[in-house]
Order: sequence, then structure tokens, then C-alpha cells
Amino acid sequence: MSVSFQEWVKNCQHRLELFLEERLPVDKTVPERLHDAMRYAVLGGGKRIRPLLAFAAGELSGADSSRVKIVAAAVELIHAYSLVHDDLPCMDDDVLRRGKPTCHIQYDEATALLVGDSLQSLAFQLMAEFPLTDSPNNQLEMIKQLAQASGSRGMAGGQAIDLASVGKSITLPELELMHIHKTGALIRVAVMLGAHCGDQLSSHDLSRLDHFAKCIGLAFQVVDDILDSEATTATLGKTAGKDAQQNKPTYVSILGVKHARELAVSLQQDAYKALSEIKSTQRLLQVTDFIIQRHF
Ligand code: IPE
Ligand code: IPE
Ligand code: MG
Ligand code: MG
Ligand code: MG
Repeated sequence: MSVSFQEWVKNCQHRLELFLEERLPVDKTVPERLHDAMRYAVLGGGKRIRPLLAFAAGELSGADSSRVKIVAAAVELIHAYSLVHDDLPCMDDDVLRRGKPTCHIQYDEATALLVGDSLQSLAFQLMAEFPLTDSPNNQLEMIKQLAQASGSRGMAGGQAIDLASVGKSITLPELELMHIHKTGALIRVAVMLGAHCGDQLSSHDLSRLDHFAKCIGLAFQVVDDILDSEATTATLGKTAGKDAQQNKPTYVSILGVKHARELAVSLQQDAYKALSEIKSTQRLLQVTDFIIQRHF
């Protein structure tokens, strides 16, 4: 591995940005306001964790990175749409995202709703438009996986559980179910789609990779809960302390910060163990550490 992790991250983020920039309709195209808002919601911000995971998993299966770039962009578009909707007044009612006013504050609620719809459609358009593997059947399977991870049995379903849980005391298994869906599903599919762009992995390797992806998917939201309670708005680029303010059940509200942190580390260890059973996973290890140790 010749380049440092920082350089690799920058390079992946740059390639993704250029591709998204090129694929998002320009703001001179009618309807201008919607296209401008789509670009506002997607470009120039975010950690791009899901794309990084896709690129790292693609390295594991020897995938052509220009194919991985497509799935990375598709997952990031779904993620960006989920953030725009998550911030709406009917959901978390947030005014700040990625250090800027949220989409519905900068534009308006109807536009934000349509931005989400349009980003989701664009994601699936990309998945259908470009060759992702040598087998059309595998490509259809990948499109299906992204659909499942995004919909009512994945991210959107998790969001529904999140909203239904406000102000309620829920059990740890119920909280885990919510987190696995609202955040875990997209992270998991980012890893798996990245890997599917390359050579077919053995069923052993696929199952270990899938276990890894589940561990870090859950860990990601545990850390998000911790940061919401511990970090500042300036560092996060989104309003800190919202979960407690809105009476959301989180790992911090149920376990306390100390045990939530222990859980994140134990999920990190599980993720390491799964990776140790597969070859050539240095980048995935590095992204795992980044997810657990991040400050924003
Ligand atoms: C925030 O995701 C929402 C969750 C799913 C927890 P990220 O922390 O990945 O947000 P960005 O993309 O870096 O802004
Ligand atoms: C959001 O979880 C998950 C999705 C957007 C699907 P949060 O509501 O905790 O995310 P933040 O903290 O607003 O980024
Ligand atoms: Mg939310
Ligand atoms: Mg939120
Ligand atoms: Mg949060």
C-alpha cells in the first residue's frame, strides 16, 4: 500500500466529488431551484464514510475503482437524501447540517422533500446506467440490495421506528433494531456493493465481510449518539444535544456515555476479528478506526 490513509481518503473523496458534480443536473437546467437545492444538499460536505467503505471493500475484491465509484455515489446520494428528510420539521426539525443551513431552511420544505425524492431516483439511475460487474444478473442483485437497504426494511423503516420511539422508554434490543435499520443498513450495503464490483468472494469471505459491515454500521450510530451528547455544534456542523432535547432514546440515554463508548469499542473489536479472517483488509481496518475515533 503506497499512499497514506489521509491521502487515500482525500483521493477517494475527490474522485467522488467530481463524479457527483458531473452527474447532478446543473442549476441552469429547469427546474433550476430544485437542481440548485440538490447540489446544495450533496456537494462540498460530509465525511463520505459510506463511499470510503465501498472503495475499501472494492480493494478487497480487486474491483475496478471506476466501477466502485458508481456504487459509492449511489449510496452517498441515498444518504444525502436521508439527511435532507431527517432534518425536516416533521422529523428532527434541524436547522444546521454539514455546517450550513439545512435544505428546507435554505430553500423551503416542499423543495427539500423533492430534493430527497430526486436524489433517491438519481441513485438508482446511476446503478442501472453504468456497468458495475461483468454479469447483468449480479448487477440486478446489487440494485435490489440497495433498494432493500434504503426502504421500509432498511433506512426508511429505521427512521419510522426512530420517530415512533420519541419520548418512549424502549429496551436495548429495540434500540439496536432501530439503529441497525436507520444507519446500519446503508453502511452495510456500501461495503457489500463495493465488494460486489470485483471478483466473486468465497461464501466464507462474504459472510465475514457482511458481519464486519453489520458491526461498523451499528458502531457508527452508537458514536453518532455519543457525539450528539458530547461534542459541540461547531465541531459537528449540526446542532449538538438534539437527541436529549427531543427525548430520543439513544445509546447514551439508555446506557450512559461510558457504557456506550465501551459498546463502540467492543463492536470495533468484533469488526477487527471478522476482518482478521479475510485477507488484504488494511484499508477497511483504517476506515473502521476512523469511524470509531472520529470527533465529528
Ligand atoms: C449522519 O451521518 C447521520 C447518521 C446516519 C448518523 P454522517 O455522520 O455520515 O453524516 P455526513 O455525511 O458526514 O454529514
Ligand atoms: C439519522 O439519524 C439517520 C438517517 C439520516 C437515516 P440522526 O437523526 O441521529 O442523524 P443526525 O444526528 O441528525 O445526523
Ligand atoms: Mg433522526
Ligand atoms: Mg437527525
Ligand atoms: Mg444523531
